[in-house]
Amino acid sequence: MDKPTRRIGVLTGGGDCPGLNAVIRAVTKDAIHHGIEVLGIEDGFLGLIEDRIRPLDERDVSNILTIGGTILGSSNKANPAKMPVGKDKSGKIIYKDLTEACLITLESQGIDTLVVVGGDGTMSCAAPFVERGIRAVGVPKTIDNDLWGTELTFGHLTAVEIATEALDRIHTTAASHHRAMVVEVMGRNAGWIALASGVASGSDVILLPEMPFDIDVVNEHVAMRSTKGKRFTIVCCAEGAYPRGGAQVVERNDPMSPDPIRLGGIAKWVSSQIEEKTSVESRHVVLGHVQRGGTPYAFDRILATLFGDAAMDLILNQRYSRLVAWQNGRITDVPLLESANRQRLVPADDPLVAAAKSVSTCFGI
Ligand code: F6P
Repeated sequence: MDKPTRRIGVLTGGGDCPGLNAVIRAVTKDAIHHGIEVLGIEDGFLGLIEDRIRPLDERDVSNILTIGGTILGSSNKANPAKMPVGKDKSGKIIYKDLTEACLITLESQGIDTLVVVGGDGTMSCAAPFVERGIRAVGVPKTIDNDLWGTELTFGHLTAVEIATEALDRIHTTAASHHRAMVVEVMGRNAGWIALASGVASGSDVILLPEMPFDIDVVNEHVAMRSTKGKRFTIVCCAEGAYPRGGAQVVERNDPMSPDPIRLGGIAKWVSSQIEEKTSVESRHVVLGHVQRGGTPYAFDRILATLFGDAAMDLILNQRYSRLVAWQNGRITDVPLLESANRQRLVPADDPLVAAAKSVSTCFGI
């Protein structure tokens, strides 16, 4: 057996999501009960690069279970192995490998084990440390629910609830004004939020990144509903959805980020097409970051607590380089390195897609 863990460093990386604090709380409390110290690394891997690290005790994690965001802060720009440090004369970004500096920080802080809470990008940032023998365990988070190896990430179901409530509200105003309302929800390459909230809200059209749509099919569906006397249509559209033969709509490019594309605008385009090609008036709504904010719903608090506990079990049993996961309704774990930069997309034969089709939901295909 290796020397047991004495001091854990915990960090939250990537886009935040409800339940991060519940994980930090679970890990910290469990570790302290086992006589293990916990240090909180601020702003994800950026805090490791900049040596911004502080001890966490029971008081730091008291009363944070229900609070959204992360008390540690997060960054979706900092990648130690490829850190943007400036630009050259031609405006090209200069990258530096700061892995070595981070290893020195880990050593000087006495951190012998990392708990990395994040999505596929964060796990890929952790990979060079794992490859160099740093003891690490991963905890999967993302509202998009697109991390390979786990059927569920905490934060996803809260985002689905938020999106569903918004779609329900949109229903009543759409019905009053006999409009087609197009609601854009998050989901870059994976349409899990759109699929789940679309089905839960009874949306008439669901557009997913995994199924490039035909706008004529969408328009026909809207027109068909009108002729049947259904004088409104709800379209639930993932931000990453795009028309067949076309491309995703990019809202901004953040070159300093390892994943520089930020999507947004597809709902506006779909809405304009509906209004142009059918006689139905249309509006669009972009839900955006409201889906990531606020208190986690009960199951996400439970899942985050289960994940935190499972991460500590891995550490106590010296099973490092593993990612905690949820499969077949129970907690398990998978190799951490296999989840780096790997996404779980909605398969065409997903049972929920079939169920949605069986209640006449149109996927624009
Ligand atoms: O990956 C999570 C996510 O919320 C995506 O759904 C979304 O496209 C992206 O992050 C937004 O990132 P940012 O917070 O940088 O705008």
